[in-house]
Amino acid sequence: MNRDLADIQLSFPLKQGIHFLNHGSYGATPTVVLDAKRRVELELEQQPLEFFFEKYEYQILEARDSICTFLHASSERTVFVHNATFAANAVFASLVRNGNISAGKGILLTNHVYPAVRNAAHYWAESCGSFVREVVLPLHADTIEEHIAPLLQEQLHDIGLACIDHITSQTAVILPVKELCEHFHDRGVPVFVDGAHAPGMLDVDVDNIGADFYTGNLHKWLFAPKSSAFLTVSEQWSKTIHPNIVSLYWGSGMHAEFHWMGTLNPSSWIASQAGLQFMRDLGVENVRTHYRQLTEYTHSRVEFQMGIQTPGPHDPRCAMAVFELPGEWEHEATVGWAIRKWLWHEHKVELHLTAWQETLLFRVSSQVYLDQTNIDAGLEALQCAIETPKDEVLKFRKPFFEG
Ligand SMILES: Cc1ncc(COP(=O)(O)O)c(C=O)c1O
Repeated sequence: MNRDLADIQLSFPLKQGIHFLNHGSYGATPTVVLDAKRRVELELEQQPLEFFFEKYEYQILEARDSICTFLHASSERTVFVHNATFAANAVFASLVRNGNISAGKGILLTNHVYPAVRNAAHYWAESCGSFVREVVLPLHADTIEEHIAPLLQEQLHDIGLACIDHITSQTAVILPVKELCEHFHDRGVPVFVDGAHAPGMLDVDVDNIGADFYTGNLHKWLFAPKSSAFLTVSEQWSKTIHPNIVSLYWGSGMHAEFHWMGTLNPSSWIASQAGLQFMRDLGVENVRTHYRQLTEYTHSRVEFQMGIQTPGPHDPRCAMAVFELPGEWEHEATVGWAIRKWLWHEHKVELHLTAWQETLLFRVSSQVYLDQTNIDAGLEALQCAIETPKDEVLKFRKPFFEG
């Protein structure tokens, strides 16, 4: 990379002395990007009406265009949204409203779907008496062909929308979304691609993928502030899609409807360009090389020193590595939560742990603010958790967001 790693680490407001190996869930945002966001907020507050009526539209379009150029997405059919969850809800609800999802036509998911998107699919399907079908893709597969085979074999006559991940969240598998879109389109099924992790990590070409709906988070791997994501819709669906918030410009098209949903803080959307610029300044390929090298290091350390094999087909482009946690643990969300909390309290390590199907998985994210010492510290702490009496670790067990 052009800049010294120590220097890059200081570009983030992360606490010193910690090992933050979970960029995949909520990554840290560079300070220059947060400054850009604050400048937008200040400009707004200095003259709110002038900002909203005279500046906002131009700033939002400029930001959208630069993001779209980077991601090869059609500007006029792309809108900012707050996050991928928001986009998924808008897509499901719009297809319920237009009848594509109905009593006789369901939503197809895979068992690798992100849980919030699964919930949204069920909610919107139930709202119209429809159904959700989940195709079981294996966790253990040597090749991507083997991994997606069940999806390709699925009967689709009663499916109104297929929803597939570009990069699966809990299992970190990159799916061949272009080929899958072609497969579903040949059978008359529209496709929603959930690319929450893809922008920045992969060289995404949204238009070339050819999904009917493609969403991606900018606040994960494109260094944008939290609450910035986008949704691109194909020509065919551009008049069907609506946000789930009805506001002043309802009926005026995607751009007006999505970008004006009551009074909101648009600073993350506008400052998303600063995230892109941060990555460009480091060198996009340099960043990805760093991800690849660090993830390879994680793989070799976990496989050769801890003796744990990668379960899924490993694509070197993926900046997250997922493994099954050894030991007799209950496969329950609160167990993953307890181990995560124990790691933080005892070792200042942040790691993603999740109960997935019959397994407990841990996920290590690479990022430019990390080096091999952070990976070593994280894995050593995890080894300690495995060797510590379970009662000690599980004392942190409690439901998340219990109210
Ligand atoms: C595949 C996938 N989809 C959707 C989401 C939801 O993203 P957000 O919380 O930004 O809506 C995530 C979050 O990690 C994800 O990994």
